[in-house]
Amino acid sequence: MRRLLSELALELAQGECIALMGDSGCGKTTLLNLIAGLEPMQQGKIQVAGFSFNGASEAQLSKLRKQHLGIIFQQFNLLSSLTVRDNIEFSARLANRFDANLCLRLATELGIKPLFDRLPATLSGGEMQRVAIARALAARPKLLLADEPTGDLDDNNSIKVVTQLLRLANFQQVGLLLVTHSKRVARRMDKIYRLSEGKLTLLTDESD
Ligand SMILES: Nc1ncnc2c1ncn2[C@@H]1O[C@H](COP(=O)(O)OP(=O)(O)OP(=O)(O)O)[C@@H](O)[C@H]1O
Ligand SMILES: [Mg+2]
Repeated sequence: MRRLLSELALELAQGECIALMGDSGCGKTTLLNLIAGLEPMQQGKIQVAGFSFNGASEAQLSKLRKQHLGIIFQQFNLLSSLTVRDNIEFSARLANRFDANLCLRLATELGIKPLFDRLPATLSGGEMQRVAIARALAARPKLLLADEPTGDLDDNNSIKVVTQLLRLANFQQVGLLLVTHSKRVARRMDKIYRLSEGKLTLLTDESD
């Protein structure tokens, strides 16, 4: 079996926004899945919001995800039988934190309110991404994992969506770990890490 990640340490403070870059296939999505408790870990320690994953049951991990984690998947994972509005409200209801005003505000700021009654299959990639962002933030997580949330958007719209995402994350003091292939997007975060050969390196201005 190939070892994908090793000697890897990453700490995210409350409200801190970190970009994760790296070549396709280097393990970025895998790292996000580990942090979300969606993939089993062979070795190491993960702690989210003071809760340690070591020895945690699937039920405990699932509760932690519901309460504290927002996930924007690379493939969005919108629920196909639910309208845009119901998708946005879904995670918030699961976390017992449904707030109709917040859902409306997020949808308005992300420009997706006119799509409320549509089904995901009728949306463009960029529209689905914005619905996924609204859905994740509506549950007011402590940590938001975003896997290439602007991957389907052109450069200008990527910056617009990231600016909104950062503003919303900042407002809610949500920690953000965002995977991106775009240097321009990454530069908007507090720090940029590069994943390569299983290790993380903090990029500084000089290493550009
Ligand atoms: N379920 C799986 N079983 C076996 N190998 C897998 C599985 N999922 C991913 N991999 C492999 O693990 C490696 C890392 O995949 P991962 O999806 O984490 O990469 P990534 O950095 O997110 O890439 P991209 O930028 O293309 O999204 C790849 O070589 C991939 O082929
Ligand atoms: Mg990936």
